[in-house]
Amino acid sequence: MSDRLRLGIAGLGTVGIGVVRIVQQHAALIAARAGRRIEITAVSARDRTRNRDADLSAYAWETDPVALARRDDVDLVIEVMGGSEGAARATTEAALAAGKDVVSANKALLALHGQALAEAAEAAGRVIRFEAAVAGGIPVIKALTEGLAGNEIRRVMGVMNGTCNYILTRMQSAGLPYETVFEEARQLGYLEADPNLDVGGIDAGHKLALLAAIAFGTRVDFGAVELQGIGQISIDDIRLAEDMGYRIKLLGVAQMTGRGLEQRMSPCLVPAKSPLGQLEGGTNMVVLEGDSVGQIVMRGAGAGSGPTASAVMADVIDIARGIRIPMFGVPAALLAEATPAKASAPAAYYLRMVLIDKPGALAKVAAALGEAGVSINRMRQYGHDSAEAPVLIVTHKTTRDAIDHAVSRMARTDVVLGDPVALRIEDI
Ligand code: HSE
Repeated sequence: MSDRLRLGIAGLGTVGIGVVRIVQQHAALIAARAGRRIEITAVSARDRTRNRDADLSAYAWETDPVALARRDDVDLVIEVMGGSEGAARATTEAALAAGKDVVSANKALLALHGQALAEAAEAAGRVIRFEAAVAGGIPVIKALTEGLAGNEIRRVMGVMNGTCNYILTRMQSAGLPYETVFEEARQLGYLEADPNLDVGGIDAGHKLALLAAIAFGTRVDFGAVELQGIGQISIDDIRLAEDMGYRIKLLGVAQMTGRGLEQRMSPCLVPAKSPLGQLEGGTNMVVLEGDSVGQIVMRGAGAGSGPTASAVMADVIDIARGIRIPMFGVPAALLAEATPAKASAPAAYYLRMVLIDKPGALAKVAAALGEAGVSINRMRQYGHDSAEAPVLIVTHKTTRDAIDHAVSRMARTDVVLGDPVALRIEDI
């Protein structure tokens, strides 16, 4: 092992600059912990003239990140550019081919090409670490691969997109509609360049797929994540869920079942008093369940310069210490091809609908549920001045198929206005 570990940083956005700051501010502390000095030798970004509020004068500059990855004076490449293809993929592959370890914050790249990259890393005798790619500063990958290594993991859950959690909690606290809060989030710079990555659940789905691969020893399979975004959540749903003792969260759940690997990222109701229900603003929370340890709850900043750079540096320091863990916790050849579960595990559901207020309307809805085999647990009809009655039903545990069946039967009655909203109530 050489006395110094020399870093090349590909990408000088908020995360790259966060890494520069940590290396500059904590050089002595990091050297003591890692047992060797860690230095930045080269950086790369497209635009050299941009003011980045950091002193980069001591570092070589490469406009081409692939050239940075191939430099002889770089031992480890930090990829914080983002994007599932193009420069990020080429840089990661070039780094491995040139015999360098890689630390990445790129969830999209790893969720889509993780297996091939894990194989390439092992073939080259290198490692890829990616703590920063999932839930920002929360050390969840370390928890799974190291802290819980003696457990069979039962379930992984989490709120892993801070922007969606900001939108949902702000709708609730300010009583504002989705569109207004979405626009507010845009003004605050919370949204990704393509907002659908956030509100469509894709960004959080990438993170869930990565965690599922580690938790269950399976090949990462983002395509098998059942995805639903938060765009359909109305202020009425938020209010009525609260009235029944729940909060709505964009919740990821991964679990291995007898029917295969279930991976879902969708708006769900969780008990308002639970740790997930209490999660406010742009914060993330990950819940891990192991057979021996029981439930672990981790909460913290899921994005931002400092938190994400903190996770990058944890990986860098591990590598400097000589800790070399396979990308998904076991050698790539041992990762199983999981069969995706065709249907999610049974759950209670929240159903909101508007009925024409006339004799027998409720009986028709109850009949539609009964015919689909869905049993009602709780029900409320809210006060109203017009002939349109808002009705809320919480079912006993049932399948999504049965709920869909009941909803299509309701649509064939002459008493339900518009489409009922059906949201899963997660058992946590
Ligand atoms: N856009 C993400 C979020 C951060 O809001 O949590 C990057 O994954």
